[in-house]
Amino acid sequence: MSTAWTNQLNWMTGDITRLEVDAIVNAANHSLMGGGGVDGAIHRAAGPELLEACKKVRREHWPDGLPDGEVALTPGFSLPARYVIHTVGPVYAKTKDKSHLLANCYRKSLALAADHGCTSLAFPAISTGIYGYPFEAAARIVCNVMAENLPNYPELQVTLCFFSDADARAFQAVFDEVTRTTE
Ligand code: APR
Repeated sequence: MSTAWTNQLNWMTGDITRLEVDAIVNAANHSLMGGGGVDGAIHRAAGPELLEACKKVRREHWPDGLPDGEVALTPGFSLPARYVIHTVGPVYAKTKDKSHLLANCYRKSLALAADHGCTSLAFPAISTGIYGYPFEAAARIVCNVMAENLPNYPELQVTLCFFSDADARAFQAVFDEVTRTTE
């Protein structure tokens, strides 16, 4: 497998709401009405217009709520980012493999960003906070999705924005392992 996609992927530790990128991804919930974690931070930084835009998305496209693995785009309002892509990661369950749903969050966000002409996109570590997905398993999914999909969007630069250095280090270890085995 080619590793050219690795040049399109960067990661950092920080607050995703501060990033000057075309779009940031929000780890939302079905309601799209905001919440804690990164969702709360994004709504606070974007301002109240974001909630109104999310209500419109619900009314017009997802009256029963945004399903796991789906995506919806709104403006970024007061954020430095032009757009917010809202996605719903799966709640981790030991007894049920939901890896395809987490992969869908990343895959569909890449496609939606590219559809809107974005050349820079930042992700938080979807599902690994309140939704309890084990970090390493999630990181492996991220690497696989990026390896498979970034070659389709050669103009797109992706930043993974971790909230702690420990998460960034844990991702680095998984990334090293995945790229070693796919070289
Ligand atoms: N910037 C970047 N990452 C952040 C930020 C931030 N400002 N705030 C939190 N994080 C990190 C967390 O540390 C975690 O690694 O984002 C990751 C995802 O955690 P959560 O926000 O808890 O998201 P998730 O696990 O997908 O749970 C979604 O939480 O906030 C609610 O409405 C949301 O119900 C939904 C659930």
